[in-house]
Amino acid sequence: MEPKYKPGKDDFVVLLWAKGTMNIEQLAEGIAAESSVGTFTKIKTMNERIFKHYRAHVFEIIKTSDNSGFIKIAYPLEHFDQKNVIQFCASVLGNIYGLLEIEELYIMDISFPEKYQKQFKGPIGLEAIRKYVGTEKSRRPHCGTIVKPKVGLTPTEFADVAYKVLSNGLDLVKDDENLVDQDFCRWRDRTDLVNKAMNRAELETGEKKLYCCNISDSSIERMEKRLDYLHSHGLKMVMLDVFVLGMPATMHMVNLAHRYRMFTHAHRAGYAALHRGNYGYNFGILAKFYRMFGLDQLHVGTGVGKMDGAPHTIRRFARLATNNEIRASIAEGGLELSKFDKSIAPLMPVASGGLHAGLTEGLFEIFGNDFTMQAGGGVHGHPRGSEAGAKALRAASDAIGEGITLEEKAKSSKELAEVLKKFGYIKGYKVKTMLNIFDENRALFDSTVRKQGLDALRLFDKSFDARE
Ligand code: 3PG
Repeated sequence: MEPKYKPGKDDFVVLLWAKGTMNIEQLAEGIAAESSVGTFTKIKTMNERIFKHYRAHVFEIIKTSDNSGFIKIAYPLEHFDQKNVIQFCASVLGNIYGLLEIEELYIMDISFPEKYQKQFKGPIGLEAIRKYVGTEKSRRPHCGTIVKPKVGLTPTEFADVAYKVLSNGLDLVKDDENLVDQDFCRWRDRTDLVNKAMNRAELETGEKKLYCCNISDSSIERMEKRLDYLHSHGLKMVMLDVFVLGMPATMHMVNLAHRYRMFTHAHRAGYAALHRGNYGYNFGILAKFYRMFGLDQLHVGTGVGKMDGAPHTIRRFARLATNNEIRASIAEGGLELSKFDKSIAPLMPVASGGLHAGLTEGLFEIFGNDFTMQAGGGVHGHPRGSEAGAKALRAASDAIGEGITLEEKAKSSKELAEVLKKFGYIKGYKVKTMLNIFDENRALFDSTVRKQGLDALRLFDKSFDARE
């Protein structure tokens, strides 16, 4: 333990929670050693140069019991291969999870030095997507749908749904994470038909539309061919199941898409296997990586829909997508300060999972104006079908742009009124109050988490539930 060590601007800082069968000081040193230059014993091959330049420094321990606590570790930049994130992950997110003495290990946050970020180009970004769709002035949230059922529709059925929703106000349609090229819906047939449907809707509405076409595949070659095909047919966006694809495949496809100036949409299916519970690492770390890699749209949760995460937790993820300096507290699960290099543009955060138009005000409190709201069931489950569902979601998006409540907007949108009746209405002030309570009591929550550990943070996350 080096309490006097002050991390410099070229250090990575890692905040983690650990619990084990040894005292927390020993656990911390074991984690720092295994993830940097050490092993289970003193070795004759260690020398002063290695110890001085490459070791990890445990500089803070917030002890919650003899054998548990939060640990902060700094890693020097020279430790890492600065063109290769896999080497970083194998070090910092690697062997330590298997140490016998560890019972709980959750990496909460990592700050990346600006010098390390220079290897990445970042997203084309949020403003470029807004410019394409034509919403730079209105600043309304983008609205889209995941065509449902997730799988099973034929290309013709799928394209028919796409036409109905795009010609009734939505900005975007997307494939679901588990739809690529199955027998019942061949990728190329679907793409061609949706492209036609989208062109027709664009002509009719005078608006630019996006199709997030899922090209995720275990074969890089097939993904490359699909990307070329989309580009040569004038499509502007491509979807990747980024977590299951893994980092190298994701980075490769993003780089190729960006050569064509095509936007990339990241579905994060699978992330929660690491993110939930007391073993793994927080989605915020992935969000930082994905933004640096250049994903242009990223699912970050909703705070009001069906996926996990309290409003304050999702607000932090949204800020990781759009801000260049993000402040957080331990009760939010983050380091005091995270920074993106100025060359890394903001990406468009996507709220998706269990949404419907009646939740839009709450989303606005969490995200502000800059996000895409996507509803699958919330559009196709409208009492009068997908067209009416699309009209309702667009009315909700317009209401945010116009600065009026959904209640007011529902007076002129029958479809929105029907959604509020069927699915309910979470008024914005409810979510705002929750965020305010969290912010006003931050010091108290922080000191509770510092005393009681990661379970207290989880409890706060669960207790701030706007859906109840
Ligand atoms: C997603 O991709 O986020 C889900 O398929 C959302 O579907 P839902 O809006 O029907 O919950």
